[in-house]
Amino acid sequence: MLTVGLVGARGHTGKELVAILSRRSDMRLVFASSRAMAGDPVSRLAPEARDGLIFEAMGPQDVAARGADAVILALPNGEAAPYVAAIEAVAPRTIIVDLSADYRFDPGWTYGLPELYGRDALRAATRIANPGCYATAGQLCVHPVRDLLSGPAHLFGVSGYSGAGTTPSRKNDVEALKDNLMPYSLTGHLHEREMSRHLDHEVRFSPHVAAFFRGITMTAQLSFREPVTAPALQARYHDAYEGEPLIRLIDTIPEIRDGQDMPGAVIGGWSIGEGGRHATLVCALDNLLKGAAVQAVQNLALAAGLEELGGIAGAV
Ligand SMILES: NC(=O)c1ccc[n+]([C@@H]2O[C@H](COP(=O)([O-])OP(=O)(O)OC[C@H]3O[C@@H](n4cnc5c(N)ncnc54)[C@H](OP(=O)(O)O)[C@@H]3O)[C@@H](O)[C@H]2O)c1
Repeated sequence: MLTVGLVGARGHTGKELVAILSRRSDMRLVFASSRAMAGDPVSRLAPEARDGLIFEAMGPQDVAARGADAVILALPNGEAAPYVAAIEAVAPRTIIVDLSADYRFDPGWTYGLPELYGRDALRAATRIANPGCYATAGQLCVHPVRDLLSGPAHLFGVSGYSGAGTTPSRKNDVEALKDNLMPYSLTGHLHEREMSRHLDHEVRFSPHVAAFFRGITMTAQLSFREPVTAPALQARYHDAYEGEPLIRLIDTIPEIRDGQDMPGAVIGGWSIGEGGRHATLVCALDNLLKGAAVQAVQNLALAAGLEELGGIAGAV
């Protein structure tokens, strides 16, 4: 039984993590930290939580002292380092999975997107940087054809407002979002750098947030050095994702609803233009699941030598 501690458990991704971990018979959630909900039963937020699990206000030393086999950090960006340092000082073999962007550019950490970068590096990894939600969708769109591209991949993303976390901001203000679509960070978004770095190919990313709670669509515009045919293009994706249980390929254009509440990603809607020199496709996924919690538990399971998708199919 792998014991797991969850730091940042009352957030949007934390709630999903509690649910998935509670469905696994080979992992046990041994603590769940929250300052705002300290003393409350975790089941008040996530009904799947076992009886007796109570939110606790925990600092880095408290987390390290608990000695869990694995710790998942679901904190806002910029908060992970003191927790990592405290755990490293006490039990360096602890598996740490960080959902923030803090270690996604750190070569000492394993970037965990198993369908693209393989499972071997994750097996026995102890420091895992979980990809961003948009970054997962964008890389799934571009990776199978990145060697064919003549220039940057252009990615247009729309996310539900849960992507902006629970700290109040304009991007999760339902009044500001009502009857609205909000473009933001149109150059240099962190996920633009993350995608370019891990794809080893430049992307341009235009993020938007809308009034629905969860889900992402990512529309990719791709230009090719040599003309491609529609069957050849689709074959690339089928070959790349064959046998991947969390990737579903469809001929129609995926919409937000195709990805919402689903554990994996839906890719489709291939369309060819300019005599084969230009193509578009779309990926839909749930930012809180394959974009965050599902991927984190998938990565943790691989690192711990456990069944990769345990507790995950039930995320639908
Ligand atoms: N939301 C998404 O779609 C998504 C997708 C992929 C990755 N991520 C990443 O995952 C992480 C968590 O995202 P989220 O949306 O779940 O965030 P969130 O809803 O805002 O939750 C943040 C959690 O961290 C705790 N927290 C906040 N500030 C803290 C601090 N200074 N010290 C200790 N705990 C603190 C909060 O609990 P208390 O205040 O009660 O302690 C809460 O449990 C972020 O880094 C985000 O970028 C999010």
